[in-house]
Amino acid sequence: MRKIIIAGNWKMHKTQSESLEFLQAFLPHLEDTPETREIVLCVPFTSLHFMSKNLHGSRVKLGAQNIHWAEQGAFTGEVSGAMLTEIGINYVIVGHSERRQYFGETDETVNSRLLATQKHGLTPILCVGESKAQRDAGETENIIINQLQKALVNVDQNNLVIAYEPIWAIGTGDTCEATEANRVIAIIRSQLSNKNVTIQYGGSVNPKNVDEIMAQSDIDGALVGGASLEASSFSRLVNYNLI
Ligand code: 13P
Repeated sequence: MRKIIIAGNWKMHKTQSESLEFLQAFLPHLEDTPETREIVLCVPFTSLHFMSKNLHGSRVKLGAQNIHWAEQGAFTGEVSGAMLTEIGINYVIVGHSERRQYFGETDETVNSRLLATQKHGLTPILCVGESKAQRDAGETENIIINQLQKALVNVDQNNLVIAYEPIWAIGTGDTCEATEANRVIAIIRSQLSNKNVTIQYGGSVNPKNVDEIMAQSDIDGALVGGASLEASSFSRLVNYNLI
């Protein structure tokens, strides 16, 4: 059985007090959310410990947005696996397109970060996706397969989540058609040795399109940016098909 995971990626949003405000408004909406749906919030490093304390006893899991591959050392601005596990988190987003685009992340560093995540007993959410130019050039499948092959060297597929996030759909309101996202995700699954890996879709998921996205046969969840910032919209997403 593939696990359903609805995850919010808060990116560089929310102070601790804003995070608390969100939780107070969000948590009451989970009363009827089926237990089979895993709910994750990937928050900035500065809020992780605070959120971990405030989520104690709740079903919501926590994720970080990055991890360094070294155990410790002279890596200004980076955070290690041990620093994250001590806080009590479960997931780490690795290889988000914003990190690839703005911070020099490569397929090789993505692979190193995936291995570090697993070494520390955390579950990576590996992001892959093509740009608009690559899609227009008919390169989508090649790009995705190449990203996967390089990222997954020596990675344990029994402790892995993948998010298909077409770059042109992120933060643009230009959602990938649900059936097209499903097609690409089926290609991703065909590349894996473990067919039970949870594969999410990400890119302008919102309360209006979530039901159709989650109805697709190969889509096991969503990785959500903008619509995870408001309790009203994120609660609608985790309660897809129910309200
Ligand atoms: P949006 O939902 O804002 O398009 O962001 C998607 C994303 O990048 C999640 O990681």
